[in-house]
Amino acid sequence: MIYQIYPRSFADSDGDGIGDLPGIRARLPYLRRLGVDAVWISPFYPSPMADAGYDVSDYRDVEPIFGRLADADALVAEAHELGIRVIIDLVPNHTSDEHEWFRAALAAAPGSRERARYLFREGRGTHGEIPPNDWISNFGGAAWTRVPAPDRTGQWYLHLFDAKQPDLDWTNPEVVEEFESILRFWLDRGVDGFRIDVAHGLAKDPEMPDLHGEWATGGPAVEGHPHWDRDEVHEVYRGWRRVADAYAGDRVFVGEVWVQTPKRLARYLRDDELHTAFNFTYLLASWDAESLRTAIDDSIDALSAVGAPATWVLSNHDVVRHVTRYGGDRSGHDAPDQGTRRARAAALLTLALPGGVYVYQGEELGLPEVVDLPAEVRQDPAFLRTAGADGMRDGCRVPIPWSGDAPPFGFGPGPGQPWLPQPAGWAALTVEKQLADPSSMLALYRSALELRHDRPELGDGTMAWIDTDGEVLAFRRDPGFVCVVNVGSDPVPPPDAVRDGALLLSSDPLEPDGSLPGATSAWYSV
Ligand code: GLC
Ligand code: MG
Repeated sequence: MIYQIYPRSFADSDGDGIGDLPGIRARLPYLRRLGVDAVWISPFYPSPMADAGYDVSDYRDVEPIFGRLADADALVAEAHELGIRVIIDLVPNHTSDEHEWFRAALAAAPGSRERARYLFREGRGTHGEIPPNDWISNFGGAAWTRVPAPDRTGQWYLHLFDAKQPDLDWTNPEVVEEFESILRFWLDRGVDGFRIDVAHGLAKDPEMPDLHGEWATGGPAVEGHPHWDRDEVHEVYRGWRRVADAYAGDRVFVGEVWVQTPKRLARYLRDDELHTAFNFTYLLASWDAESLRTAIDDSIDALSAVGAPATWVLSNHDVVRHVTRYGGDRSGHDAPDQGTRRARAAALLTLALPGGVYVYQGEELGLPEVVDLPAEVRQDPAFLRTAGADGMRDGCRVPIPWSGDAPPFGFGPGPGQPWLPQPAGWAALTVEKQLADPSSMLALYRSALELRHDRPELGDGTMAWIDTDGEVLAFRRDPGFVCVVNVGSDPVPPPDAVRDGALLLSSDPLEPDGSLPGATSAWYSV
């Protein structure tokens, strides 16, 4: 299981209200006891924080808010001592506009070597006042910004995200070389791999044709799209694979690849490309047996065709937390019954599937989305660029409640409040409270992860569905493990396949006759 750390919101060592690398180091024993095999840490590089660090101004250092390069080295070393591998986040689609390359590009003339690292184009209209094409930023508004005054050349630059995130030109060999060198910089420091941000976005159609509203904006793309999931991008990953393979040990890439189908996803996972990718088909599936089963089957089929292991993910720093997605109390303040029950059942389903599992920090505490953050504390550029019409992402980034009865819940050393306010109701969800409660979400994750380590059937391998009716999913992992999920709301007896089996764990207590109540999963040894 790979645990995603969002560093701003995980643990704060110095009381400035923002999580940091020493904070993570101090909590490594917690992660080890939870049973994580690896951590993926969202970006901690120097950044003006226009997109919470996904706007990188120097790929070879650590943002002072988060610590120093020596803290990153210490974090890697200490994690390794505890048997935890470290995956860092690489952002290759764009840099910050404060990166030295972009500053140099602005200072240089059109047509210069400096501008050729990015995607500068002339505008349309008599005075070049109309953007070069109709592409739209993922965060809302045009994907082009005209070079700001005092520069008078009037060119525009492309940014598929915020205006402070100019896109690089991946047809430029200098860009290719620079990123291979950045990979080596971190591989030399001992990291075990990279999560690749927007891995489906690097290549753009050089003709830059208008979208004409023909393609869905944002989101996963269909074949032939001018800036998502283009074939040229695969050459980049072949090069990276050669770099990583030259290092001792297993160094891995996991791609953030938002594409239309598991088949398109599998193309990123061919032998000489990335090792794994997030499976957003599963994350996007709704809570019903049919759509979960289809998402699971389609993922396994497509990935086994290229010999890549499946991965499963329910939440991350960009989506509404699944307790809430599954129907939790929208206020986020009270224990959300339906959403939490389903999230517990989903945890056992996910951890029983063949392949790797990603857990987003706080998911093991059953944290809901915080849906009522006041506008003035929100920082998501998607919120800011759409005047609040979009940008749910701050609500899943609220700092972790560790202990105590009032905010900041032990997030930092003193009474200082974190960068986003925590709901008072999270007093019931702190790590401290949940460690003392055998029926807590945390206790469920710990038990499940312990079994996942002990049982030879779990993790990589194969699965076989067991025939069931209605809103029930059941599958076997050989030689002797069965997972049953009652996705519906009425109790159902377990299938015959587990009649003589022993119950190992259930997401909520079973009925006295062994039936599974609604929204309940159970693991059996058979
Ligand atoms: C990825 C990140 C997201 C970021 C975007 C731009 O989707 O997960 O947080 O805003 O890329 O870098
Ligand atoms: Mg701090």
